[in-house]
Amino acid sequence: MDTKTQPQRNTTFKNEIFEGLSSFPKHLSSKYFYDKKGDKLFQDIMAMPEYYLTGCEFEIISKNTVAIGELFRDKEKGLDLIELGAGDGKKTKVLLKYMTENNFNFTYKPIDISENAVEMLSKNLAHEMPTLNVEAEIGEYFEVLERLKGFNKRKKVIMVLGSNIGNLKHPKAIEFLTKLQDAMLPEDMLFMGFDQKKDPQTILNAYNDETGITEAFNRNILTRINREFRADFEVEKFRHWEAYNPETGTAKSFLVATEAMKVSIEKLQLTVSFDQWESIHTEISQKYDDKIVSWLAEESGLRIETSFTDEKEFYKNYAFTKA
Ligand code: AVJ
Repeated sequence: MDTKTQPQRNTTFKNEIFEGLSSFPKHLSSKYFYDKKGDKLFQDIMAMPEYYLTGCEFEIISKNTVAIGELFRDKEKGLDLIELGAGDGKKTKVLLKYMTENNFNFTYKPIDISENAVEMLSKNLAHEMPTLNVEAEIGEYFEVLERLKGFNKRKKVIMVLGSNIGNLKHPKAIEFLTKLQDAMLPEDMLFMGFDQKKDPQTILNAYNDETGITEAFNRNILTRINREFRADFEVEKFRHWEAYNPETGTAKSFLVATEAMKVSIEKLQLTVSFDQWESIHTEISQKYDDKIVSWLAEESGLRIETSFTDEKEFYKNYAFTKA
């Protein structure tokens, strides 16, 4: 596993927190949710009845395993299946099983920003699917993209599940897709999940559960800053707030200060003041429809080959090739 990029990642984290908490309005990047506790909380989120995304994508992959698997199949030299944001691999395992049982010659390369998630997945796969070739890596999407170009000896299938692209605003999503496209050769494929626009209440509930798991997940970014940068955020004084805008299809998460506060962040030599009801914007979870996905594809030099949806049409997985 590649842990050499660790120090550089820490500096990025440091600079981004400094910048985000010194700005107006304040913001932090959702990519920092995923430490050990954040991974666990996200797994709890995926198990919540309100968080329909995981179940829908699992249904899509389970009901279309053969069709999807055969889209991935190479002509002769085998293939690399590269998954960005692999997480716990629950949905991917369905495909991995199909592929190992149906004479695919392939290496599975899970890549995730969470060191902890990558380690757990590698151990779990070594145990559950001992014949599978696994080469795991830790890394952030944009940083990993550079390395993708090196995979040009045989077919590659790049997979991004979970509507993870939804954390990027459209211009960033286009930049991301364009870089993926740039790393692709004509026979390569990109398989991606996009959560769809639907009843705004359904979306709001997915990010606003009554049990408070999403709130704990959101607040965990402050707990992490407390621990890693010796800060003194009183996390219970920040309330989780979710807003969904049906016009733009954007769900936004905030942490709202319930009283005026001063927070000191020792390792940044920074004191941050909060007015009462001041917010920190922490995440966007973009929702899509076919028109938006077609537009993103066109802007990025990709062509939609086909797509799969669930019974309720809440969620869609699209297969793209280079246009
Ligand atoms: C993993 C980014 C797809 O935005 O739906 C879940 C993260 N945030 N609940 C999402 C998340 C709050 C999730 N993604």
